[in-house]
Amino acid sequence: MNRDNAPKTPATFQVKSFGCQMNVYDGERMAEMLNARGMAAAAPGEEADLVVLNTCHIREKAVDRVYSDIGRLRRDDGSRPMIAVAGCIAQAEGSEISRRAKTVDIVVGPQAYHRLPDLIDRATRGEEAVDTDMPADSKFGALPGRGKQARPSAFLTIQEGCDKFCTYCVVPYTRGAEISRPWTAIIDEAKALIDGGAREITLLGQNVNAWTGEDSSGRLRGMDGLVRALADLPDLHRIRYTTSHPNDMTDGLIAAHAEVEKLMPFLHLPVQSGNDRILKAMNRSHTAASYLAIIEKVRAVRPDIAISGDFIVGFPGETDAEFEDTLKIVDQVRYAQCYSFKYSPRPGTPAAGMDDQVPAEVMDDRLARLQAAINRHQMDFNAAAVGRTTQILLERKGRNPGQLIGKTPWLQSVHVTAPELVIGDMVEVDIISAGPNSLAGEISRRKAA
Ligand code: 5AD
Ligand code: SF4
Repeated sequence: MNRDNAPKTPATFQVKSFGCQMNVYDGERMAEMLNARGMAAAAPGEEADLVVLNTCHIREKAVDRVYSDIGRLRRDDGSRPMIAVAGCIAQAEGSEISRRAKTVDIVVGPQAYHRLPDLIDRATRGEEAVDTDMPADSKFGALPGRGKQARPSAFLTIQEGCDKFCTYCVVPYTRGAEISRPWTAIIDEAKALIDGGAREITLLGQNVNAWTGEDSSGRLRGMDGLVRALADLPDLHRIRYTTSHPNDMTDGLIAAHAEVEKLMPFLHLPVQSGNDRILKAMNRSHTAASYLAIIEKVRAVRPDIAISGDFIVGFPGETDAEFEDTLKIVDQVRYAQCYSFKYSPRPGTPAAGMDDQVPAEVMDDRLARLQAAINRHQMDFNAAAVGRTTQILLERKGRNPGQLIGKTPWLQSVHVTAPELVIGDMVEVDIISAGPNSLAGEISRRKAA
């Protein structure tokens, strides 16, 4: 391994996470572990001795960005930090990374990052430090307990991996098979987060609603049972979860949306396409109609629920008419927000080898049309909030002095000017105006909770 100018023993670190919320969670756990090892996070703007790039492999663009970031880590004086590539690129490409980018010292996959301290030692000795194992013993058991400081809105991974094998997707290969974390581990971590100041917890999983496990009395429960148990924890005000697969949307979970007040009225339920032939080619194992039936069921018990989705345009062989079906489902569901992507062929996935890859210009055009439709519904959804009084959880500072940004139960960002309030407060606001991406509010009454 080429160790030109890397520091001998790193004292400070920076973890930079790309991609999904689970990477954000993993990045926080890595930082906690490095802290426990006696290392300190580099101050903002300060150059760290160790830079961990916690990467995403889901689309080609995400991969390109990481390689250009690696190149930019060289300092003006020619030296560079110790560089660790973690996350899904590490898993997918392994030691290939250090061949492509000679300055990479450590490669560690998403199921092996509890071994990062050992890998740092190996890299310090100039040895190869690549670990892309998916050990049977979960990393969670080997990580230090959650720190005392938590954000008001915290992430908690409860499920990882995916057995669905959508034909375009690398996740089953990079994150491995579906596993559910044990009940007690989740409840304990939630309690630690709440003690540290969390007021909202977002349960994370690639297929979060596939979570199953035994509760403390040995009864087999689904994610709805877990949500109900978490809702009993005092000082936790809000529960969210993401990402869900339509096939795991159980009646129990739908009922929880009606019955558990702390479960927020928001559901991220990707459909990817509105056309049944494409859905079949994607191996989604649901149809447009069966997806719509789930949405109807959820809306029947929780009429105000905000629905969000993911879409891929230009899947191999997608015709204009098939793409029109995607626009149609967007209008039928009236999404509150969506993520939409151009299909990106991923090495090793079945779709990458399919005939009829869609030309880039066609994808560009479809994405623009899809996003126009999505934006229209998002704007309508936000505009409907104007005049309402709603609770927000203040999560961060805004750009202007005294300005804070909080989230509504429907995950809309609200800007308020309230110098007397602090991050972590729950407060009731009157929504006074709406834009495509956020709302403006005024404090309406007393501070709640
Ligand atoms: N190309 C484009 N988008 C993809 N996604 C997953 N794999 C691909 C791919 N190969 C999108 C899906 C998924 C989201 C996380 O990323 O919409 O729901
Ligand atoms: Fe990927 Fe499909 Fe699994 Fe989601 S359900 S992670 S899109 S394979």
